[in-house]
This record gives sequence, structure tokens and C-alpha cells, in this order.
Amino acid sequence: MAKKACIETFGCQMNVHDSERMAGLIEQAGYELTNDIGEADLVLINTCSVREKAEDKLFGRLGELGRGGRGRPLVAVTGCVAQQEGGRLLERSSHVDVVVGTQALRRLPLLVDRADATGESQVDVNPYDDVSFPLGIAVRSDPVKAYVTIIEGCNDFCAFCVVPYTRGHERMRPAGEILAEVGQAAAAGHREVHLLGQIVNHYQDPGDPQHDFAWLLRRVHEVPGVDRIRFASPHPRHVTPEMIAAMRDLPKVCRHLHLPLQSGSTRVLKNMRRRYSRETYLELVRQVREAIPNIALSTDIIVGFPGETDGDFEATMSLVESVGFHSMFSFKYSQRPNTLAAKRMPDTVPESEKTARLMALQARQKTIQERLHAGCVGESVEVLVDSRSRRQRDVEMFSGRTTQNTVVNFPGRPEWLGSMLKVRVERAGPYSLRGQVSGSA
Ligand code: SAH
Ligand code: SF4
Ligand code: F3S
Repeated sequence: MAKKACIETFGCQMNVHDSERMAGLIEQAGYELTNDIGEADLVLINTCSVREKAEDKLFGRLGELGRGGRGRPLVAVTGCVAQQEGGRLLERSSHVDVVVGTQALRRLPLLVDRADATGESQVDVNPYDDVSFPLGIAVRSDPVKAYVTIIEGCNDFCAFCVVPYTRGHERMRPAGEILAEVGQAAAAGHREVHLLGQIVNHYQDPGDPQHDFAWLLRRVHEVPGVDRIRFASPHPRHVTPEMIAAMRDLPKVCRHLHLPLQSGSTRVLKNMRRRYSRETYLELVRQVREAIPNIALSTDIIVGFPGETDGDFEATMSLVESVGFHSMFSFKYSQRPNTLAAKRMPDTVPESEKTARLMALQARQKTIQERLHAGCVGESVEVLVDSRSRRQRDVEMFSGRTTQNTVVNFPGRPEWLGSMLKVRVERAGPYSLRGQVSGSA
């Protein structure tokens, strides 16, 4: 009987996609995938280290595994905490057998095999530079969306951020490889392509520096079978006029741009080493909206960065109000190992103050979203149906996203999954819309 492997994933879309790659690698090595951790002979935990809470999740899971009844499974820790901690993980938990860093993913089957055969733990956190990954191995977990990595790592070193230390320095994938993967995903029925990178719009084809992110969007747009293109995560300072023009000109590129702000105070942005100011960010928003009037903007914000005053926080609140983001991810600052802030900037804002600021920000954002969503009632929107959601009484509910990335829920049928439909919006809440399907788009 084939051995079974269970993968658990924390963190961003890059990690979700790395897990899809790991699933393919481990299947090739003869394992059968399972979602039931109780029956797994091998447990893979793909970790995130972006905030302390994310890192804590790994240790919570390791503790739970230790309490398992029957013979303990082989445990491999991969991802950002694996890269950051390396062999120290073996000292911190007796349940870990294999540690695979973010740049050593392809060696996972070999290391698992060795640990299994010898009973000795295996660690590989070497910074391999090669970013190629064989075509057709990843087991895509979503029938509609296909994640395609275009850049690995990051060279920006924002003062708060652990990513350059966990993902390594920036490495670009050759455009030919990216386009082949997009083509293959589209041929397999994935209608929405998500181009991934921690600083995705810094893309440059290693074979030709003229081939930048805007160029890549135009090439991906030509791939037959692709209906929608999204990307994550862009950095405001790398949004070029060419990128805005490509988004404007290409109908398959979704009318949504994530522009992580982090703070509305120029002083804090400077300390964060973000390399834009409140004023240049607002000017960028103006340019993007002028070129693409129906674009929806979303953002990430950190409250309580070292030295953030009431005045700095008010600057964030006023910027959020004046831009009117369609959605926001907001976080309390969390000190991370190796970062500039951890070395030089004491974590001065008290926890209670961080909490108060986060709640005030989220309340403001909720009001903004309610207002934006209320404006959609009565309209007809186009959605790509991407998932089945919770049943409501006897009605089967489905959900999809508009080009602006707004979630729309509606009664539907399983065969509609993956199709583009028109939905008349009947009700609006702060986090989603609700409506009835009125036809195909
Ligand atoms: N590459 C993206 C973001 C990567 S991390 C960018 O450049 O914007 C995703 C989000 O987590 C960040 O945008 C930031 O808002 C948040 N984040 C990162 N490090 C953090 C930290 N130390 N504490 C709190 N939030 C953090
Ligand atoms: Fe982190 Fe900054 Fe790089 Fe984004 S751009 S991954 S926030 S260092
Ligand atoms: Fe987390 Fe690593 Fe992604 S730290 S956010 S999993 S790049």
C-alpha cells in the first residue's frame, strides 16, 4: 500500500504554490496525498514567518503532532521558518525529522527518503540560486486559479520585513519558462492566472532587461485560454507608466491593483525604508485612477511600527479615508529576526495602543467598504465562479469574484464552477455582495 503524505500550509500565495509544487514532488516519490493528518506517514508543514503569530503556529502544530496516538509520522518542516531556523528547529522540537529551506524545495523527496531510510534528521537550507522548476509537476489545488511564480526572493529590505532573509535575494524566472507554464495551466482549464512574487512588478527577464513586468503582462495576455490575469504582490515604487498602460490596454488584466501602503506618514515610511512618501503614493493613486477609472485599489497597513506617534497614525487614517480602498489587510507591528527594525528600532508602541489603533483603522475601513459596496446594489456585475460556499437553508450557495476582486455570493449549481456569469446585485455587506445570476457573461 502506498504511503500517505499530508501537507499543511501557512502564509502567502507563494507558500500555497510551493505546497502545490511539494505535492507534485512527493507524489512522484510514490506517496499518495491525503487531507487527513491522522492517516499520514509523512506530514509536511509549510511555514510562514512574516509575523510572530505566524511562526507560533508551527510550534502549536508540532506540539499537537507529539500527542498523536499511533506510531509518529515523519515530519518535514519547509518554508520561511525552516529557512530562518535551519538546524535549530531540531533542538526546539524533537518531532522534526527534515528541514527544507525555501531555496531547496526540489531536494525535498531526497531528504525525506534519507531520513526515512537512516532514521537521521536531514537539514538543507542552502541558498540555491536556480529558480527553474520542471513543468507539469505542481499539483494545482484550485480548478479555476493557477499560480505561476515569476520572481523569487526580494532585495528591498524594508525595515520590518523578514522576507529577504527567508526567501533570499531576488531571482527572476526566464520568461520562456513562465509563458510555458501559463500555457500549460490554461490548457488544463485554469481560466485565471495569478503571477506571483514578493515584489512581482520588479520583474525583468534574465535574458533581456527590456522585457519588464509590463512586457510580461502583454505576453501572458496572448496565451490562449487565459481569461483573467491577476498578480501579487506589487510594490508602489515599481509601478511604472508602462505597467499602468499595460493594465489599461489589456482587458484580461483584472481591474484591481494591490498597493501596499504600510503607513500614511512620510516619516514612518522613511524609517520603514519603503522609498516612497505620502505625497508620491497619493500621486500614484491619482495616475492609476486617471488611466483606469474603474480600478479597485487594496492595501496592506502596519500599525504601531517603532516610533509611530498618534500624529503618524492619524496620517494613516486620513490617507485611508481619502483613497477609499476596496479592501485592506492590516496588522500590528511584530518584530522579526534579522531585520533592520529588530536591530536598530526598539518596539516602542505598547501592545494596548497597537490594538486600539488596529481596531480604529479596521472600523474606518469597514465603513468605507460598506459605502463602496452599497453603490453596487442594483448593478449587474460579471463574476468568475470560483467556489461553493456555505448552504443557506435549502439553497446551494456559490461565490465568485468580480474583476475588481469583490466577492459575490449567489444561489447556483455545481456545473457553474469555472464559468463567467452575470449577477444582479441585490444586497451589500462590508465584505461581500449578494445577488442572483441573470445570465452568462
Ligand atoms: N511583498 C509585499 C508584502 C509582503 S508581506 C510588499 O512589498 O508589500 C505582507 C504584508 O505583511 C506586508 O505588506 C505588511 O503589511 C505585513 N508585514 C510584513 N512584515 C510585518 C511585520 N514585521 N509586522 C507586521 N506586519 C508585517
Ligand atoms: Fe518585504 Fe519590502 Fe520585500 Fe515586500 S518589498 S517582501 S515588504 S522587503
Ligand atoms: Fe510568510 Fe514567507 Fe510568504 S514569511 S508571507 S510565507 S514569503
